[in-house]
Amino acid sequence: MKVEELYNYGMPEKAIEIIKKKGINEFFPPQEEALRKGLLNLEKNFVIAVPTASGKTLIGEMLIIKNLIDRGGKALYIVPLKALGAEKFDELKAYETLGLKVALTTGDYDTGARWLEGYDIIITTSEKADSLIRHRPSWISKVSCVVADEIHLINDASRGATLEVTIARLLHINKNLRLLALSATVGNAREVADWLDAELITSDWRPVELKEGIYLDGKIIFSNSSSLEIENSDEPALALALDTVNREGQSLVFINTRRGTESFAVKAAKKLKGSGIIEEKLLKEIAQEILHVLPEPTKICRKLAKTVEGGSAFHHAGLETEQKKIVESAYKKNLIKILSATPTLAAGVNLPARRVVVREYRRYDSNYGYVELPVMEIKQMLGRAGRPKYDSFGEAILIARSDEEKDFLLDNYILAEPENIYSKLAIESSLRTHTLATFAMGYASNTEELLDFFSKTFFGYQQESYALEALLDKIVKFLTEKGFLENGSATEFGKRTSELYIDPMSALILKNAIEVSQEKPSSEFSFLHAITKTSELNKLYLRKKDYDMCIAAAGEMEDFLLFPPPSQYSDPWGYEDFLSEIKTTLFFMDWIKERNEDFLLTKYNLAPGDIRSRVETADWLLYSMDVIARLFGFTKIGEISELRLRVKHGIGEELIPFVRIKGIGRVRARKLYNRFKTIEEIKKASIKEIASVVLIGNKLAQSIKAQLGGEEEEVKITKMKQSTLTGF
Ligand SMILES: Nc1ncnc2c1ncn2[C@@H]1O[C@H](COP(=O)(O)OP(=O)(O)OP(=O)(O)O)[C@@H](O)[C@H]1O
Ligand SMILES: [Mg+2]
Repeated sequence: MKVEELYNYGMPEKAIEIIKKKGINEFFPPQEEALRKGLLNLEKNFVIAVPTASGKTLIGEMLIIKNLIDRGGKALYIVPLKALGAEKFDELKAYETLGLKVALTTGDYDTGARWLEGYDIIITTSEKADSLIRHRPSWISKVSCVVADEIHLINDASRGATLEVTIARLLHINKNLRLLALSATVGNAREVADWLDAELITSDWRPVELKEGIYLDGKIIFSNSSSLEIENSDEPALALALDTVNREGQSLVFINTRRGTESFAVKAAKKLKGSGIIEEKLLKEIAQEILHVLPEPTKICRKLAKTVEGGSAFHHAGLETEQKKIVESAYKKNLIKILSATPTLAAGVNLPARRVVVREYRRYDSNYGYVELPVMEIKQMLGRAGRPKYDSFGEAILIARSDEEKDFLLDNYILAEPENIYSKLAIESSLRTHTLATFAMGYASNTEELLDFFSKTFFGYQQESYALEALLDKIVKFLTEKGFLENGSATEFGKRTSELYIDPMSALILKNAIEVSQEKPSSEFSFLHAITKTSELNKLYLRKKDYDMCIAAAGEMEDFLLFPPPSQYSDPWGYEDFLSEIKTTLFFMDWIKERNEDFLLTKYNLAPGDIRSRVETADWLLYSMDVIARLFGFTKIGEISELRLRVKHGIGEELIPFVRIKGIGRVRARKLYNRFKTIEEIKKASIKEIASVVLIGNKLAQSIKAQLGGEEEEVKITKMKQSTLTGF
């Protein structure tokens, strides 16, 4: 079907032009099927469960545009990852010429984001959508259309519950909502569609042929029985990647550990450098960009820059967001030829990977040892190869070490059907959090109404209601006992906890910590330790060699602990946990003592992105602690907000006024402090003097001056006024 035919479906010409400008002339079969089955009549919901790269996004775009034009209101586009959000943002921005405003929001949770009132299309993660709804901003009732991307992630143990509750909530708020759920192929797509009362579209069709195969002993055997000889190597993944580059393609290698991705990229770079294949001059410039993301590059930044110089790169959650963006963009421009990534890059993104290699099909789990990955996850990774925008075919390869393993991989992955997906809402912490939110928003005032709401979730659809009822009873009792609920409605404490977007259990820990601190000596250590006890803060992993350090610190700080440590003898597991809390606390202490990042990365075995994510969470928890302290009228709380600033920036107390200046972080603040000691002194200094401080430079010095004012600034303003006057 030609794109022009959209006109017959009531799409305005201008919108059709925009789609054509994207280079789309003819619809893919699943897109056509959705149109023929009435997608744009806006009368029913749709679930599209079709292979990777088959153009699901465009189906979402068409629905959103038609819906906004015909029915008004707002559209939400829900994605699992920030990076994917950015890609969808670019796609949807194209429609702004229709007079529609597009926003991307992923950050701060304690807000109803009133600014979004002015936008028509809002792209957001499921967590952010959930938190927005909890604040009940007036615009939420205007949401008339929702696209939920990668909905099979309902199956994800840690994030799935939020996704399904968010969808159920939105359907509950607006009975007239049009919902489009986009999914990978899953075993029980029909069940998902029935849950959502939706038309289901499934297909095996893929726009670009994806040749799936298995490598064994120097040969790829494809599922269609063809084969391809590769140079035999004891490092097959690398040989496979290089082979594609030699054929003028790019490759993407999925590796399970961050370390693994790094050492792979280092090896790939060594092979590519000096080979004449890569554009060394341009790559050098990109490497420089990577080195300048942080004021002082860390070891890992240098490592990444070095691999980039050699035309390869690694990509994992330990990198700075900005560095990930640089890497993705250089890969899309065909400058980086080989990219090694952890599986986080598997969801939805469009990359020019002609060949994807999945190096391991098992993952190490500390409880179960090696576990095989689900078919669905492997297919997601393989599906990054052969994307229509970039390639006319793709190759997706698993690696076998023996004939038996080859047969195993063929039967269990390449030829296997993906699994069914199951709700993960029954996990107690999820149910607790979402139960409180349901009361706090006034959607329930008793177990019956609560049950009514949860029966609309996928969990409610998959389970018998008596199982759910027993669970909910228990949770309501707990929440009432702990002061979150009273006579069927949420107390102030309950409401704020829900809005702060933290687990009620964490809210109790924070409240408890403040209570105890009113009577006991406390220090930064005390509060930092308290937040490490919450489920939101990912504690640092305790290695054997950390024991002594943690036991010693726990002993030394015993008087300042707001929570008594568990006994090493009667509760050895609890004690282990406690020691990793202490390790995490020590990390934060070093962080606010301004130990440099390289030191922290080595001592605590972290990557820069790990520091960033923990600091963000700690900042959030300290903010929550402050809010709860005020709510209960505690008086001794002065230090919490100060500590929050120190954690946010990783600084000592004396630098607090310095980091308030835009563009100044922990490293530059220290340099400024060493020279000027006070803000007053900076005000008195000339731009030249400020610029002479290490890492400041002229441009930043001017901005500092403009922000702080001071003599020179006044001179400039008077001059400006004069010139405006003469201009008259
Ligand atoms: N009708 C079309 N003609 C040409 N290209 C198209 C068409 N529809 C979509 N595309 C392009 O195909 C690519 C893949 O589309 P999209 O990202 O929507 O796939 P997807 O089905 O969401 O895949 P995944 O399951 O991996 O997320 C995009 O680059 C998109 O621009
Ligand atoms: Mg997609």
